[in-house]
Amino acid sequence: MPRGFFVTFEGLDGSGKSTQLRLLARALSAEGQAVTVTRQPGGTELGEHIRALLLDSRTQPVAPLTEMALMFADRAQSVEQVIAPALDRGEIVLCDRFTDSTVAYQGGGREIDREAILTLHRVLCRDLWPDLTFLLLPNLDVCLARARRRNARQLAFGTDENRFEAEQRSFYERVDRAYREIARQARNRVVTIDGDAPVEEIHRSILRTFSQRHQTAVTNALPHERP
Ligand SMILES: Nc1ncnc2c1ncn2[C@@H]1O[C@H](COP(=O)(O)OP(=O)(O)O)[C@@H](O)[C@H]1O
Ligand SMILES: [Mg+2]
Repeated sequence: MPRGFFVTFEGLDGSGKSTQLRLLARALSAEGQAVTVTRQPGGTELGEHIRALLLDSRTQPVAPLTEMALMFADRAQSVEQVIAPALDRGEIVLCDRFTDSTVAYQGGGREIDREAILTLHRVLCRDLWPDLTFLLLPNLDVCLARARRRNARQLAFGTDENRFEAEQRSFYERVDRAYREIARQARNRVVTIDGDAPVEEIHRSILRTFSQRHQTAVTNALPHERP
């Protein structure tokens, strides 16, 4: 059975995830690799409904546990419908946010017990973890300012994804700390990226790391020669 390669992009809103995911997808597609691109919340028909509910600033109030449950409802659907099938076909899957986001936002930001989150992940997402995660870490204030500008632009086109924008700076500081903790605990999987560098420079660094890790995974998956 072929097994693809699962890559996620993580970081605060405005950290550059979607920009870098697009660039990596384009580079890999140009090389002729089979790539599936998806995002969370969203990425399935059901998930896009959940995304609209979760991110729209008019959805108020949302209890922290409800928010976590909806995030996992979306993710379970995405694993079943998009991610696992693409990996079974041997494809590279690039996903904009995954369970690290729930550990950072609902765990760090909302202060929900981390073990509960990981238990839900085991049950609802079949304990599927990425092979490689890029964690983008720009300066916190730069990041929040970028997200506000981007969200204001999208609002002008009728897309409201502003609910998390109402949070205090202390919320984002907790999310940021939780992300850095994840990077310390999952050193082999999570690669941290200086998000303040120019877009092209970050892209080159991500492409280099991706190629090394992917090559190693492919080599290790090859059947060993008989002596
Ligand atoms: N390295 C960077 N330097 C300056 N601006 C950036 C950089 N990366 C992304 N941006 C800009 O910041 C905004 C948010 O980027 P985006 O990729 O949408 O972040 P995210 O998906 O993490 O929320 C966009 O307007 C994007 O053009
Ligand atoms: Mg994005």
